Amino acid sequence: MPIEIRSITTSEIPAFRETLSRAFGHDPVDEDGADERFAGFVDLSRTYVPFEGDEMAGVSASLTFDVSLPGGTVTPMGGLTMVAVKPTHRRRRILTDMIRAHFDDCSGRGEVLSGLWASESSIYGRVGYGVAAPVHDRTINGPAAGVPAAPDEVRLLSLDEVRTVFPKLYEALFPTRPGQTSRNDVWWEQNHFRDPEHWRRGASQKRHLAAFRGGAPVGYATYRQKSKWEDSIAAGSVIVGELLGVDGDARLSLWSLLCSIDLFPTVQADNQPPDLELPWQVANPRAIQRKELDGMYVRLLDVPGALEARRYSTTDRIAIAVADPIGIAAGTYALDGSPEAAACGATTRPADVTLDVATLSALYLGADLANTLGRAGRIEGSADAVARFGAMLRNPVAPNCPEIF
Ligand SMILES: CC(C)(COP(=O)(O)OP(=O)(O)OC[C@H]1O[C@@H](n2cnc3c(N)ncnc32)[C@H](O)[C@@H]1OP(=O)(O)O)[C@@H](O)C(=O)NCCC(=O)NCCS
Repeated sequence: MPIEIRSITTSEIPAFRETLSRAFGHDPVDEDGADERFAGFVDLSRTYVPFEGDEMAGVSASLTFDVSLPGGTVTPMGGLTMVAVKPTHRRRRILTDMIRAHFDDCSGRGEVLSGLWASESSIYGRVGYGVAAPVHDRTINGPAAGVPAAPDEVRLLSLDEVRTVFPKLYEALFPTRPGQTSRNDVWWEQNHFRDPEHWRRGASQKRHLAAFRGGAPVGYATYRQKSKWEDSIAAGSVIVGELLGVDGDARLSLWSLLCSIDLFPTVQADNQPPDLELPWQVANPRAIQRKELDGMYVRLLDVPGALEARRYSTTDRIAIAVADPIGIAAGTYALDGSPEAAACGATTRPADVTLDVATLSALYLGADLANTLGRAGRIEGSADAVARFGAMLRNPVAPNCPEIF
């Protein structure tokens, strides 16, 4: 039977949730109001569901975000999410067709790029995604790290206080690091303030901390505690959810508290930016271990639109030839960029650098990768052209998306 991809109606939400949960090895949680909540933050017109007759062969959807870019600008981004194909229907190009539906939808809405988090790093490169905001998972031996005392005042907040402090602070910090996604009230409520038992995985409820300077909030963190005893010795963990601050002191204040909670010596902080300053602030940086992972992927759909949306670290003009396995972004483009402005359009000039769209997408949020990608054979061009291109695209603050979507 042929597969038809279409959006779902409200009555099909339970089947969508069940198909998605099963793909990730869970059974759908039968919570009160789960379907209504789903409809509250997933725009059903942005679901792309493959039907074989009446049966869902898989699921996928887009979230509607703005994403922060180098230079403090933002652009709309379609966030591809909830992607699954039933084991009975795998490797029939259903994912490929769902992604095309997502790209068409993004382009129709003026979104110049798509972003996602991948379950496996082998899936999305073939359709032009590159890792644009790589992350480090940090495991800290809190007592051994020698974290200095908090420069700012740190307090635990009630959920009512959190509702007034966190969204405002996040909004102020949003443009300061590329790769952050915008959050509306529904997103905050559903994905940050709600804390159902089945999200805790044996750990405590979510706790909320904020750092204050002169009475004003300058940073916040969320965490859970997971208790453990080994031979009657406390070996618990603090599991950090999100930690953001206006500067190094604000963030240090939060780390200082998190690394000194009695009975919980291990601090697990995943999805941290690669330019985390904490190892440079402590007495014993070896107590802060790291694992590098792929983080958020980006896929440029409209190259001139995307390259004009961000700003550049140097003022330069460069001709970029882009190859695209599925055609959408292919072409040669002239980019005139500077810290203040950018212009980009098709050109007949010979290319200074040649790369595929996944490579350009990996560079787009400002990760310092151009020279590495050049050495990896992913960028063609003279060493000077690659270095100039890299200097232009590199952002002083590493891109990071603080939450998985
Ligand atoms: C990942 C998943 C959605 C792929 O769906 P699918 O319909 O089988 O994928 P397609 O048939 O469109 O595959 C297209 C190509 O990608 C390859 N591919 C698909 N999944 C892959 C994977 N997990 N690893 C490596 N390659 C993969 C296919 O082999 C095919 O390659 P080809 O072009 O050389 O023939 C499906 O396996 C799944 O539901 N997995 C479990 C849930 C999951 O991981 N979802 C992704 C969340 S980000």
